[in-house]
Amino acid sequence: MSDASGPRFPHLLVTGGAGFIGSCFVRDVLARRDGAHVTVLDKLTYAGNRANLAPVETDTEQAARLRFVVGDIADAEAVAPLVAEADAIVNFAAESHVDRSILDPEAFLRTDVMGVHVVLEACRVEQGRAGRGERPAAPRFLQVSTDEVYGSVETGESREDDRLEPRSPYSAAKAAGELLVHSYFVTYGLDAVVTRGSNTYGPYHHPEKLIPLFVTNAIDDQQLPIYGDGLQRRDWLYVADHAGAIGHVLDHGLAGETYNIAGGNERTNLEVVTGLLRRLGKPWSLVRLVEDRPGHDRRYAMDGTKLAVLGWTNKMPFDDGLAATVDWYRENQGWWRSIKSGEWGDYYRRQYGARLAGSREAP
Ligand code: NAD
Ligand code: TYD
Repeated sequence: MSDASGPRFPHLLVTGGAGFIGSCFVRDVLARRDGAHVTVLDKLTYAGNRANLAPVETDTEQAARLRFVVGDIADAEAVAPLVAEADAIVNFAAESHVDRSILDPEAFLRTDVMGVHVVLEACRVEQGRAGRGERPAAPRFLQVSTDEVYGSVETGESREDDRLEPRSPYSAAKAAGELLVHSYFVTYGLDAVVTRGSNTYGPYHHPEKLIPLFVTNAIDDQQLPIYGDGLQRRDWLYVADHAGAIGHVLDHGLAGETYNIAGGNERTNLEVVTGLLRRLGKPWSLVRLVEDRPGHDRRYAMDGTKLAVLGWTNKMPFDDGLAATVDWYRENQGWWRSIKSGEWGDYYRRQYGARLAGSREAP
């Protein structure tokens, strides 16, 4: 992200920077101590958590380069002045959980589609100002998208120019968002890039997702609800590798291009659960097979060649990353116990109550 002359983008606007991956990106950018300034715009939904930025906010030098704004990316008045000050915008802000998109899709359209539109419009205004010499350059826009836009991939690996076949309200909204971004590149010449990351895991991951849900439940000797037969496959990517790859594309990606960020660690859900139970020393009897997720994508897998050619390599092997993640949740119980209170109980009952009541033992 930087060299002897300083960062390529001295002032970043990071939308959704209080979430899981966005906060990792912000922590890593500021920890470089290269003078970069970051403004975070985050609505602080149930998934946003200011505590995710605590390592930065308790470090005087880093805290001085961070500004935190609570606001909505779909609110043009909040977005415009922040985009006006930014050299680049990295959009992590999204409703991000497939199960919640099945229960209640509307918020996904508002943030993952309309929100992207609002930020793009603000970038277009700034591009106009740059054209009139009112700012040094147009801002660069990076949209953080997902491998889920390819839909379920039974065999082989998705490449960037494959058809998009999203199958959940979440992935359909993410596909719409990134198609909008591409249209602004084609139509208005906006300096925009898109990344499609694979399933990400690591510290500060909201406990609604598979790995943190199962680690935190297992710590408390609670049941682990596996959907269907547990043989669905995901390609796991460590969060610092995902954030690092996004920074690499921001600095080096070609405008108008899309880059897969593959993990290189394809595992069945049952294999992942086996690994985390072993690390925790907890019994297999906690695992329960429950009614499947409707429209459950069987497999995601991406070809990461294009990003490798751009010069990026992941650093974290899966077994080490999983061990580090399990240990983090064991050592940071205050962080997740405060999330697993309040609205969490209602969500958990709605999502898992009937499922667990009708569950069966896992083989
Ligand atoms: P997350 O749910 O942990 O964080 C999302 C953040 O966005 C939260 O801080 C939330 O408060 C904020 N937010 C939500 N709506 C907002 C709005 N309208 N305005 C401003 N802020 C808003 O999500 P994550 O796992 O960190 O994912 C970040 C991005 O990466 C998302 O765009 C997601 O689609 C994408 N992605 C995630 C994964 C994964 O496995 N987690 C994989 C690939 C891509
Ligand atoms: P998840 O973490 O929700 O990510 P995504 O759906 O975006 O891939 O789920 C990962 C996998 O784990 C997916 O196949 C669904 C499965 N899963 C369960 O079996 N049980 C659960 O309680 C959850 C949350 C997920």
